[in-house]
Amino acid sequence: MFQNQLVSYSGIQPSGNLTIGNYLGALKNFASYSEKYKCFYCVVDEHAITVRQNPADLRRRTYETLALYMAAGLDPEKNTLYVQSHVHEHAELAWILNCFTMFGELSRMTQFKDKSARHADNINAGLFTYPALMAADILLYQTDVVPVGVDQKQHVELCRDIAMRMNQLYPDLFTVPEPIIAKSGKKIMSLADPTKKMSKSDENPNAIVYILDDKDTIIRKFKRAVTDSDTVVRYAEGKDGINNLMSIYSCFTGKEFDEIEREFDGKGYGEFKLAVGEACADALAPVQKRYNEILSDKAGLEAQMKKGAEEASYVARRTLSKVQKKLGFVQVR
Ligand code: TYM
Repeated sequence: MFQNQLVSYSGIQPSGNLTIGNYLGALKNFASYSEKYKCFYCVVDEHAITVRQNPADLRRRTYETLALYMAAGLDPEKNTLYVQSHVHEHAELAWILNCFTMFGELSRMTQFKDKSARHADNINAGLFTYPALMAADILLYQTDVVPVGVDQKQHVELCRDIAMRMNQLYPDLFTVPEPIIAKSGKKIMSLADPTKKMSKSDENPNAIVYILDDKDTIIRKFKRAVTDSDTVVRYAEGKDGINNLMSIYSCFTGKEFDEIEREFDGKGYGEFKLAVGEACADALAPVQKRYNEILSDKAGLEAQMKKGAEEASYVARRTLSKVQKKLGFVQVR
């Protein structure tokens, strides 16, 4: 669709303050695709309402997430940055894809099972069909690659299945996308329970480091991180806490695990945790500075939202109309 240029697409829900899991698993890597790919990065507010949101918080976080995209190095001149609800084609294609997605497939989604256990009082249809909306996001842009953390792999695989199924019925309808999962940082774990993913919706604030936490808070949280009764900094089975801290340190410093093991040889966990906290805070400081500048210009952010939505709509409209035509919907425009 873009004269032989490949397309990269990803999204983040404005459903909570973003964590270093979101940063290392996704956001930090987005900018690296800008040269080689035509990139679309979306603030997926429609996904966020599958769980109850306070409207004022959702609105605020939508601005904040867009500001974080830009602060993390996404140049709006090179990338299309926009808000999902500003492009109505997402919801329209999602309906069509729902009709090609099986109940059994949706029932097997781990995120649906987790979220319905956590929100037992609100297991709504949107939570169940969430992967069809995510597939619509991706397929509308004839996407080649989807950079995500490992927790989203299952959803991207379902998206591929839907695309292939529809391509069999209606040839050449969609590009079949590939997930791209970063080697390190693909699954950052909770600091309080390193067997669990770090999640922005975790109720324990000590489990999470937010991208916007200040240096003292970051260091305090790392100091309290759960580790083990051993004292040696090394990557090994059963050392979930240390393995997680080593992954985080590796992502922020670019050091390999064997290099980290040598660096902390003969030193205790206390020293290591402090180093992880400092590396994290130092790496995030310039992002936080840019973020504050960008967020203070609300009119600028709104202008960006409009520009992004126009660019995205242009592409989305073309795909949706192709799909509608192939399915047999009458077009009178
Ligand atoms: P969301 O908002 O939960 O997370 C945004 C991105 O951050 C990654 N991530 C993590 N990576 C490593 N370690 C962690 N602890 C961690 N927590 C989150 C996620 O894998 C994701 O890449 N359904 C998606 C949003 C979405 C989307 C899309 C993504 C909607 N439409 C289309 C790609 C393409 C979600 O809930 O992400």
